[in-house]
Amino acid sequence: MKPLGEILTIPANFLKEKKCPRFRRDAEELIAHVLKLKRLDLYLQFDRPVQEAELEALRVLLKRAAKAEPVEYIIGEIVFYQCQLSVGPGVLIPRPETEILVDQACRMLCAKDFHQKTAWDLCTGSGCIGIAVKKTYPDLIVSLSDISVKALEIAAMNGHRNNVQVELLQGDLMAPFDGRKADIVFCNPPYIPSKDFLTLDSSVKDFEPREALIGGEDGLSFYRRLENELPSYLHPKAKIFFEIGAGQGESILNIFSGRGWKNRRLEKDWSGHDRFFFLEFE
Ligand SMILES: C[S@@+](CC[C@H](N)C(=O)[O-])C[C@H]1O[C@@H](n2cnc3c(N)ncnc32)[C@H](O)[C@@H]1O
Repeated sequence: MKPLGEILTIPANFLKEKKCPRFRRDAEELIAHVLKLKRLDLYLQFDRPVQEAELEALRVLLKRAAKAEPVEYIIGEIVFYQCQLSVGPGVLIPRPETEILVDQACRMLCAKDFHQKTAWDLCTGSGCIGIAVKKTYPDLIVSLSDISVKALEIAAMNGHRNNVQVELLQGDLMAPFDGRKADIVFCNPPYIPSKDFLTLDSSVKDFEPREALIGGEDGLSFYRRLENELPSYLHPKAKIFFEIGAGQGESILNIFSGRGWKNRRLEKDWSGHDRFFFLEFE
């Protein structure tokens, strides 16, 4: 048995040696997980005794993280926009940038935009966007769709965990919505160009689902499909919120330059990259 203060930096040093890019954060997340503490509390509880069984459990998890397995998969959950979400192999780990998308959408739309309106979260993965929006504005009627059955199982679990009622639909992009129309559409589609796949971190390319990442040869294939297919699924004045890849802003503006699209707006992430594209239908 050792006091927490004595062992706190050892896991981070171990992951640093193993070249884990987020070694300190990952190490702290794993210690907090094993000790059932909040990450911040690690620095307030230096005298807390750590039992040998806890150290052993931590060693097992650190070995997995050292092989680039994402800590979010090891722990099995994350917090996203005040929602506790389960994540695991087969579903993309929601990224912090995507919280900006939810935040901006919730700020741009006022309460009347949400009342009894229909919102779809296409390519929903863990359900993070649709569930966070529904939790913030319970009046909204929210549907989540994905081609992946595994992702939808996790999205369903996340809906229950967060006490929100959302519809779940499986199928290729717009197909599950045939004959229906939406007022608000969210979509964070796969947008990595296939040629860039091998340059991704091993924690991404070796663990996260490839079909959640690759958006065709240039990364834009889903946006081209959406530009073509979305109009017949939209009510007049529908509002659309996309996440896009850094560096794709100009191409996306070009793709959505024709019929009926208005108020097109690119927004940046915290690193200053074009990361979001908001627009309205005529
Ligand atoms: C980039 S992930 C986004 C996941 C989640 N919305 C988020 O922001 O974390 C893209 C998602 O699109 C789904 N997907 C891929 N191809 C699809 C298709 N043809 N139709 C519907 N969903 C698809 C993947 O299964 C994956 O869950």
